[in-house]
Amino acid sequence: MLDRSNELTAWDRDHFFHPSTHMGTHARGESPTRVIDSGEGVYITDKAGRTSLDAFAGLYCVNVGYGRQKIADAIAEQAKSLAYYHAYVGHGTEASITLAKMIIDRAPAGMSRVYFGMSGSDANETNIKLIWYYNNVLGRPEKKKIISRWRGYHGSGIMTGSLTGLELFHNAFDLPRAPILHTEAPYYFRREDRSMSEEQFSQACADKLEEMILAEGPETVAAFIGEPILGTGGIVPPPAGYWAKIQAVLDKYDVLLVADEVVTGFGRLGTMFGSDHYGMKPDLITIAKGLTSAYAPLSGVIVGEKMWNVLVQGSDKLGALGHGWTYSAHPICAAAGIANLELIDEMDLVTNAGETGAYFRAELAKAVGGHAHVGDVRGNGMIAAVEFVADKDDRVFFDASKKIGPQVAAALGERGVIGRAMPQGDILGFAPPLCLTREEADIVVSKAAEAIDSVFASL
Ligand SMILES: Cc1ncc(COP(=O)(O)O)c(C=O)c1O
Repeated sequence: MLDRSNELTAWDRDHFFHPSTHMGTHARGESPTRVIDSGEGVYITDKAGRTSLDAFAGLYCVNVGYGRQKIADAIAEQAKSLAYYHAYVGHGTEASITLAKMIIDRAPAGMSRVYFGMSGSDANETNIKLIWYYNNVLGRPEKKKIISRWRGYHGSGIMTGSLTGLELFHNAFDLPRAPILHTEAPYYFRREDRSMSEEQFSQACADKLEEMILAEGPETVAAFIGEPILGTGGIVPPPAGYWAKIQAVLDKYDVLLVADEVVTGFGRLGTMFGSDHYGMKPDLITIAKGLTSAYAPLSGVIVGEKMWNVLVQGSDKLGALGHGWTYSAHPICAAAGIANLELIDEMDLVTNAGETGAYFRAELAKAVGGHAHVGDVRGNGMIAAVEFVADKDDRVFFDASKKIGPQVAAALGERGVIGRAMPQGDILGFAPPLCLTREEADIVVSKAAEAIDSVFASL
């Protein structure tokens, strides 16, 4: 094939506006362009012929791995027979209806309907609207505030970027907007009072939430949103007892729970949903990424029975729901979703995420946990993080300007393994495809140890 690398690089610099990218350094050619060409299993290959083990599954989304023929065939067949029809006023396709049924069959108890979108952000946007609509139908127009957590990630739209609790996503965008509030992140490693046990810290988080609800007035607080395990905010599993204590506060003040399972849905924690894993009782569940393993853009809101019944009353009073996207329930994406969920079952990937994930995390902790600048190695199922500190005993963090996390991720990349420098703090994240084998896990671990040693040796 003709080598067009130089031409593509020039076009990329001149015309492609990349998401989440330093615009200046990229346009000036001071940071690399990598043109990805193909993928197979856990590996991707770029136009220059370099292959990398993708230990972040794209953006923690290619859960079944790259190059799965079954999904490609399902997409092609759907495109040939019916590329598109909308889902408004009761229309559907065999693919979209079947996928809704498959999702409810796998969802936690008490879930009723699936509203489809294209991205995690638009699904959370739908959640906010449904929460407001619900309280309006119930005659509680003042019950509208939504509490999120610092370090939560829920998207980068105007309202979903407001839910997100990371400065990078707020700065210079005039976010967060009302009526969104943020409470303490359940980040045990970074707790202020280091004498606290996990249970005590969980209780302190629940107490802070309760204080916020009381200060705002419970009659004004509609919902709480959280990822079962904090993702983009640092890959932080909740401390022991966290979700049970939070759930008790929410139940006490009639506050809905939205479980944002965009990362954890469909197996990443070794259970089909993170809500099951932590015993959460959500009213709404956000899904995306693992729903199609990113073979096509598809998201969804899974609506619980309690909310659904009120929404139905709403349309009996107000008429048809005034909310929809042209591409809601797109049949090509739904066909990809069906094939993907079948593949997850056929390859037993939920079990593998639990078992190989546990092996991977244990080996990672063994290999790097003792390093003088590794403060914490954590994770659950097939997701893990290594957090770096300047001083381990006193838990002193590096100045962000040193860019330790990005340096380690780059050193790892040079060694043929992709990890992710998480955006806030010096944290190297891993979320490999759920099909990772022990041999592949060993490669990730040994290259991570080398990369860490090399960065700190050069400091
Ligand atoms: C937990 C969570 N929610 C929502 C989103 C937003 O999804 P999208 O990027 O598809 O809009 C993400 C993306 O990483 C996420 O991790």
